[in-house]
Amino acid sequence: MKIIIFFIILLSLNLILAKEKFDFKKLINQYSVISLEKDISYLSKNDKLMIEILFNASKIVDDIFWKQTLGKSKQQFLVNYKDKDIREYCSINYGPWDRLNNDNSFIDGIGNKPPTLNFYPLDITEDEFDNFNNSLKKSSYTVLRRDNGQSKNLKCIWYNQEYKTEVMKISNLLMKASNYSSDKGFKEYLKKRSIALSNDQYYDSDITWMEMTNNPIEIVIGPIETYDDTFKGLKASFQSQLLIKDLVWSEKIKKYNSMLPELQENLPVEDKKYKSEKSGSSKGDMYVYDLIASYGSGNAGPKNIAINLPNDPKVQLDKGTRKIQIKNLMKAKFDEILMPIAKRVIDPTQLKHVTFENGFFENVMFHEISHGLGVKFLVDGSGTSVHQALEVYYSPLEEAKADILGIYFITYLAEHNLISNKDLMDNYVSYIAGIFRSVRFGSSNAHAKANTLNFNFLHKYGAFEKNSTTNYFSVNFNKMKLAIPKLVNHILVIQGNGNKKAAQSWINEMGTLNIEDIIIDYSGIPIDIVFKQGLNLLKF
Ligand SMILES: *[C@@H]1O[C@H](CO)[C@@H](O)[C@H](O)[C@H]1NC(C)=O
Ligand SMILES: *[C@@H]1O[C@H](CO)[C@@H](O)[C@H](O)[C@H]1NC(C)=O
Ligand SMILES: *[C@@H]1O[C@H](CO)[C@@H](O)[C@H](O)[C@H]1NC(C)=O
Ligand SMILES: *[C@@H]1O[C@H](CO)[C@@H](O)[C@H](O)[C@H]1NC(C)=O
Ligand SMILES: [Zn+2]
Repeated sequence: MKIIIFFIILLSLNLILAKEKFDFKKLINQYSVISLEKDISYLSKNDKLMIEILFNASKIVDDIFWKQTLGKSKQQFLVNYKDKDIREYCSINYGPWDRLNNDNSFIDGIGNKPPTLNFYPLDITEDEFDNFNNSLKKSSYTVLRRDNGQSKNLKCIWYNQEYKTEVMKISNLLMKASNYSSDKGFKEYLKKRSIALSNDQYYDSDITWMEMTNNPIEIVIGPIETYDDTFKGLKASFQSQLLIKDLVWSEKIKKYNSMLPELQENLPVEDKKYKSEKSGSSKGDMYVYDLIASYGSGNAGPKNIAINLPNDPKVQLDKGTRKIQIKNLMKAKFDEILMPIAKRVIDPTQLKHVTFENGFFENVMFHEISHGLGVKFLVDGSGTSVHQALEVYYSPLEEAKADILGIYFITYLAEHNLISNKDLMDNYVSYIAGIFRSVRFGSSNAHAKANTLNFNFLHKYGAFEKNSTTNYFSVNFNKMKLAIPKLVNHILVIQGNGNKKAAQSWINEMGTLNIEDIIIDYSGIPIDIVFKQGLNLLKF
């Protein structure tokens, strides 16, 4: 009895504490609000009309995603909550679970986020799923439901039936929009996508998507990513992202991609065998965009600054994938997050080199291109891939490689006058400043680990130093330039030899920040961004 009472007291104490635990103003302020504005006055009248229709179609995706998450609409869910801040934080997260805090619930009595969400019956078990004999159960485009009758047997329902009202509206709008497209390829894609949504067969529209390359406008719409299904990782969440292509940067990327073979031959490794692989320049399907609308799963919680699609392995085999780089979101994260961090860690005399277009953004672009350089297979000719050989150590090393090879690439271009008006300090200082943003997410993250490896290596060679009086960091240009090829060499040799032991010991020794006193005060600096969006923010 005593024990029970003690428990009850403990429980109610917990509840009281829990209530005070959530400071919603503070939670909301983890996000900086970004306005998705864009001047589209240069587009044709028909393209503008098309954008309006696509914007309207995108918004409907939100309704489906709320249903997928909670089994009810946003209005039905929010009706229980009067507090403005709670409603806002629910809207940001598309539900009562905090996407910046391991999906923990921030509303009392809601409980943990169910792994099934509303894709499967809440009470389904692993065994029941395994024993359910239905060829559609693993489709990314079906939900599992129970029969109403006594049997409560499982059944599969296609998305186009489960979300029929919304899907039909979206499908019709895409068909209508296709009538106004100035680009033939995009017109074809919208038609195919409209059909795909109505029958859940996406292969044709994915192929058409990969085949169009000149479209000035882009939309990624439908059930796409499967991260939200943590029960089986099978069911796709609805999202829509409407984008405008940056023609200047898309053209530049094409040019730099075509330089990959030359770079491959000139990699800074002595032994030729580490640079003899043919680089994958032909697969460089990469474009730069500005985002003007985002609804559904892509709009929930923290935001991606790049998209790599489609996910269908059959399409990937036939056509490869497309990399979508979202420039206005990178700019937003640069302004709202990276720059405030840089002001706290970079020596004031070098702060002018922390720049967007010629620093941070260029570094990100060359990081992406540089994944196509180096070695994919071991140099011993066994046919084993680096990924197979390095296993869990592969990702941090591959990301570290792309980072430093990107910087090496830019340095090479500058030294051979292949890029004009280049102040390499912009790239170097922006890179070092960017490391402090990436390591914020903890060393379990492959990107954070990669950043730490490079940071420690470069520091050992004096590429930058910390002033022990001011605690500011500054780059030593000459030493940085000497250290870059050394680091490239270090990584490529481990990768080419598939030396798992070396990768492991490097990560164990250098995979954590170990420079004395690197304690950065991130307080007051947002963690991510949320969007203010609407047709009224576009300049027609
Ligand atoms: C988009 O939706 C709004 C609001 O429902 C409507 O007024 C407008 O006519 C729609 N635009 C187009 C081009 O269909
Ligand atoms: C599964 O269903 C198929 C088709 O309905 C049937 O032929 C097969 O025997 C079933 N398998 C089992 C293990 O029940
Ligand atoms: C698209 O254009 C065709 C031919 O001009 C027309 O028949 C059709 O009704 C239009 N569709 C929509 C949805 O506006
Ligand atoms: C550190 O910064 C202080 C203040 O700006 C400066 O006087 C000093 O020379 C710097 N130390 C080094 C080693 O650069
Ligand atoms: Zn990468």
